[in-house]
Amino acid sequence: MRILGTGSAAPVNILTNQMLSNMVDTSDEWIVERTGIHTRHIAADNESALTLARQAAMQALDAADVQIDKIKLVICASVTNELRCPSLACNIQRDLELPEDILAFDINAACSGFIYALITASELLKENEYALIIGSEVLSRITDYRDRNTCVLFGDGAGAAVIGFSTNPIHWTAMAKGDDQKLRIDDYIHMDGHAVFKFAVEALTNGIRTVTEKAGFTLADLDLVVCHQANERILASAAKRLGISPDRFFLNLAKYGNTSAASVPMALDEAVRSGQIHKGMRVVLAGFGGGLTSGAVAMEWS
Ligand code: ACO
Repeated sequence: MRILGTGSAAPVNILTNQMLSNMVDTSDEWIVERTGIHTRHIAADNESALTLARQAAMQALDAADVQIDKIKLVICASVTNELRCPSLACNIQRDLELPEDILAFDINAACSGFIYALITASELLKENEYALIIGSEVLSRITDYRDRNTCVLFGDGAGAAVIGFSTNPIHWTAMAKGDDQKLRIDDYIHMDGHAVFKFAVEALTNGIRTVTEKAGFTLADLDLVVCHQANERILASAAKRLGISPDRFFLNLAKYGNTSAASVPMALDEAVRSGQIHKGMRVVLAGFGGGLTSGAVAMEWS
């Protein structure tokens, strides 16, 4: 499997730490020190998981320069599609006028969603076929802005990638463990922050170590690790446990906060567009989140 093009989208509206401190008992200092987040982007009334997904997908298709009639698979990862049915993926097929002889479906693996989608696509794709995979979220619609434990963390956005069949293998690992105590979403997100923090560091550490070994790399070989952007301290703790320099971990959470399934592809797109990923680099992508779920993928960038 090969990632041929990436794209991303974020709403124009920005919610700063200062603005949040006028809504709940918090401060810019607390949020920056405990999370690394400065701002997040918030969808306007006329934006949705679908509109953001569409923008990110069009950018990714453009970057990949793949004819849309070659797309055989569309997978969207989201916990915030406003409709139960049709799926985001079906609406993307319609809006982007993709062929109808395709498989198009959504998956719910919370913040691991894009990694799950990437793994699924890599297992399903055949020679000369391409897949469009998207993570898109409007978490602001399920964030309780009276709850300072959660409302400082989340933001909206979308990221996408076009992937193609290649004989170059990707190496993956995934985990799912039913648990509705540490993290649950009903009308709002409910989270036991401490427990999720511990789970996240462990899941990331295990996932990165496992896929690095499977790929035949050493941890020291890794050029870039693109993780779910939940909290800078989670990524720093994982880097420390693995003995990898924290500067190998790509970070953009200061601008966007935690965008759940969108965060890995948004970060990947920024890394690609800013020239931080080159051919031949050894790259790991990793996610963790509600479910509980986690997953990681290692590849040599080609
Ligand atoms: N502003 C000010 N004070 C706050 C805030 C806030 N926004 N939030 C909590 N506090 C207070 C707490 O009430 C507590 O006060 P107390 O000591 O008087 O009880 C104190 O700050 C310390 O709270 P902690 O929970 O210990 O803070 P911690 O350092 O653990 O940071 C955080 C909390 C940021 C939530 C952290 O635990 C975290 O990042 N957890 C992981 C979240 C995550 O990664 N989620 C990913 C999955 S999300 C998904 O799948 C959709």
